[in-house]
Amino acid sequence: MEWQLSHHKISLGDAESPLAFKAVSIAILWSLWYLWRFYIVPALYPNEPRILPYWIPFIGHTVSFVRCAENVYRRANAHFPDTEPYSVILMGGTTVIIRDIKDLSSVWRNTSALSYDPFTSRMLMAFGITPHHVRNLYKPDPARLLPDEQTRERSLLSCANPKKLSYMHLQSQWFKTQLLPGEHLNGLLNAYPVFLSRFLDISLLRKGLAREVTSFKCDGANTSVTLPLGRFCRYVLAQSAFRTFFGEELFEIEPEFTRIYQRWEDASWKIFYNFPHFLAPGLQADRKRVIAALAVYLDLPESKRKNTAWIFGAMNSELTNLGLPAHDRAGLIMMICWAMNNNAHYIAFWMFAHILTNPTLKASIESEISACYPSPTSDQGCDMEKLSSACPHLNALWAEALRLYNFSTAVRKAVDDCSVGTKIIHKGDQVFGPVRNFHLAEGVFSSGAADFDHTRFLKNPKIRQAKEYFPFGGGHTLCPGRYFAEREVYLLVAMSLRRFKMEVTTADGGVVESPKVPDIRMDLPSLAAAAPAGDLFVTVRS
Ligand code: HEM
Repeated sequence: MEWQLSHHKISLGDAESPLAFKAVSIAILWSLWYLWRFYIVPALYPNEPRILPYWIPFIGHTVSFVRCAENVYRRANAHFPDTEPYSVILMGGTTVIIRDIKDLSSVWRNTSALSYDPFTSRMLMAFGITPHHVRNLYKPDPARLLPDEQTRERSLLSCANPKKLSYMHLQSQWFKTQLLPGEHLNGLLNAYPVFLSRFLDISLLRKGLAREVTSFKCDGANTSVTLPLGRFCRYVLAQSAFRTFFGEELFEIEPEFTRIYQRWEDASWKIFYNFPHFLAPGLQADRKRVIAALAVYLDLPESKRKNTAWIFGAMNSELTNLGLPAHDRAGLIMMICWAMNNNAHYIAFWMFAHILTNPTLKASIESEISACYPSPTSDQGCDMEKLSSACPHLNALWAEALRLYNFSTAVRKAVDDCSVGTKIIHKGDQVFGPVRNFHLAEGVFSSGAADFDHTRFLKNPKIRQAKEYFPFGGGHTLCPGRYFAEREVYLLVAMSLRRFKMEVTTADGGVVESPKVPDIRMDLPSLAAAAPAGDLFVTVRS
């Protein structure tokens, strides 16, 4: 009895202790919340996208999403084996994930309720543009914002804007004017090979990539340099592309422009997570240096920067008309430089990695490329049309690299309530369509879709037309740079293989038996193309 009494007292005492009481209450409340959120609500509201279960309210899937979004998508696909949309919770907000291509097409079509603008405006802020100007850039009928009649008479915002689109929406049309086949694209494609040829030079590589070069040998006529393949692609493409779009004048202002930009780009993934400035000091310092150089460049009289691409000239004039200072104009142009640079070098890396680790593929590609040059030994005068249309192995390699090594996500924000398929999307929700969910579909791309197969698009060229294949996004934000990207990467591959002997080696130029292509780096968010989990050392010989 005494024991019973004392036992009774102990348990009562436990339950009465404030800490235990709180713990029990929290456990009960949490269980009720879990039951309500993941069992009762889906039953009561079948038209709401189901929510992938999570443990901590508000935080939801944020931590696992930041660590590796791909793992969250995989877990969700196993949890909800159909293809209906589902939701994840990121910092308290709902993000609806789309998995059926018909649903994604309806997302792309619904430009009134599902907007891209909240993402671009957030980016503009991240590039340091004054909030007041950011707001103006999205106002319809921007001619109203022009200071006087004289400006209105010569501004594209009034003279070439029959639908009275906002500056940002009109700018999307200018991208198409510059980058889709036509006179302006031809101008870029004429300039680019000249710069590419200049930077595909062993002594320039050695100098420009001094910190990355691991070995350099010069013995008589044979010179060789060993360096990480990823850095090679990135350096040559960026040096050539910046000059193609801005001319040499930009480098007269800041000779280190590419190096500073690339250091910024290395850390640019932090932008996706809104890192506060004090947690990303290097990112901010490099952004400011890039913007400072661009601002000086944009303020040069036109006569002193005759090689500015049409798009950047148009952006600069119209942003000036709208009253944006050079710093803000430069910020917006830097944002476009990011779209222009950040993907092509990764795709070039993956293409080289497969070519240099597969002798049969290399031989096929070299022979196709050879037919595009005027003589067996030349590395100039490539027939670009032939390179892009009559090289089936090169073409299939490009298509497969864009399929597998692609982390792009179609993103929209609901600015009104709407529906996708049978599911309701609420104002304020985000909508994501991650490309890999579609690009890995075995039903479309056949078995082994999770692995690289350079013959996939050779055996079945029709899959290029599949709706589930959209390496450059879709809807009104479909990448306008896709033609330029294809030609700049093809020509980099072609000219490098013609000019140099390239082979995978150790960092000091030693032989590697059976070199392997690195894995994908899964934990790095990206605008589109995926980064490798390691680099390959290549020795480049003249
Ligand atoms: C292999 C290389 C490339 C890939 C995989 C790629 C992919 C993409 C994707 C997926 C989007 C759509 C983003 C969205 O809808 O959310 C996009 C947009 C864009 N890309 Fe590319 N891109 C590449 C190269 C380029 C190049 C070389 C340029 C410029 C010369 C460029 C310029 C742009 C621009 C300006 C946009 C924004 C379009 C708009 O908002 O209207 N891209 N890119």
